[in-house]
Amino acid sequence: MRILLGVSGGIAAYKVPSVLRSLREDGHAVRVIPTRAALDFVGTATWEALSGQPVTTSVFDGAESVDHVRLGREAELVVVAPATADLLARAAAGIADDLLTATLLTVTCPVLLAPAMHTEMWQHPATRANVATLRERGVHVLDPAVGRLTGADSGPGRMPEPEDIVAAAHRLLAGTPEDLAGRRVVISAGGTREPLDPVRFLGNRSSGRQGVALARNAAERGAEVELVAANVEAAVLSGLPGSVAVTPVETTADLQAAMQAAADDADVLIMAAAVADFRPAGARADKTKKNPDGSVEPLELVQNPDILAGLVAERRPGQVVAGFAAETGDADGSVLDHGRAKARRKGADLLAVNAVGTALGFGDVPNAVHLLDAAGEDLGEGAGSKDDVARVVWDAVVRLLTH
Ligand code: C5P
Repeated sequence: MRILLGVSGGIAAYKVPSVLRSLREDGHAVRVIPTRAALDFVGTATWEALSGQPVTTSVFDGAESVDHVRLGREAELVVVAPATADLLARAAAGIADDLLTATLLTVTCPVLLAPAMHTEMWQHPATRANVATLRERGVHVLDPAVGRLTGADSGPGRMPEPEDIVAAAHRLLAGTPEDLAGRRVVISAGGTREPLDPVRFLGNRSSGRQGVALARNAAERGAEVELVAANVEAAVLSGLPGSVAVTPVETTADLQAAMQAAADDADVLIMAAAVADFRPAGARADKTKKNPDGSVEPLELVQNPDILAGLVAERRPGQVVAGFAAETGDADGSVLDHGRAKARRKGADLLAVNAVGTALGFGDVPNAVHLLDAAGEDLGEGAGSKDDVARVVWDAVVRLLTH
């Protein structure tokens, strides 16, 4: 695809060659249009060498081919990174005093802006108004990341990480819907661990991959996402965009507290975590030892609360509460029979029922789900990778949110 990469004059420009590199490695033709100030940070030679295309800043260079109109017509995506406060202001006002801003007035393709500036500048009413104007016009303005800024200061205003900018560019090129924009969603993932003593626990084989896929897809669709992660390995969490807030938990009690705390202002709650139904009665402070005769004390278990049922009971009007049910078929019924009975028992707006076995369900394996409503009636089905299943689940949740 043909991408225009605008670069405005901020220190974060030093990270943008890696955005250019990734886009080129993914097979896109990228033309770089820096502002004059951007060249104070990264020079023309770098942009030309990495893009393999000529680089100019002014509409008067190459005037014979009327570059700002030609480039604008040909572009299939425009990315501006970093987008400084000044660039946002000029774009919002429709000022066209260099090649980049003139081109922004000619393009009809999607435009993605990755802001970077000091916190005071990002929070200034002038910048807020410019961002609101641009978003109203359909421009995709990423929220800046929170973190270390140029000097000693830190806060919102850091340019989103290059990989997040590239991921957002891919979403726009793929036409991913933004149907969760403005929604806050909270997802639990992984498996709880119930301590027996300081070294042992009762746990399960859930990897957290399905919950991470749900979080990733929700973020891609524009939601503000919190992932309550029960013992999810760092390697699995590394698949999340930087905008997803991760709350690590260990036990069912931790997970329940985190979900309840997050539930108040959430539009959607999804319980994708495998929660232990029982925990050892009274975890021991010392490591459990064998009796002198080699025998062990029997394990006494007490029941855990059903977190999903609690969230359903306290659901606010308009809030969607969903769960997952991992089932196996047996003599009493099929996976779906058990799923329908569970859907009626749990009362969630949506229950995604999946068959578990050695090659399905847990871990880095494909997944397949039947979506049921609180009456056990079909809301659809999906199969494939965990990302495919996540898309099907969110499609169904979006239908519930908008009806
Ligand atoms: O384990 P079960 O099949 O009942 O899980 C179905 C759903 O209920 C899942 O969404 C799971 O996260 C949730 N659950 C829960 N609290 C429990 C057990 C399960 O919220 N104690």
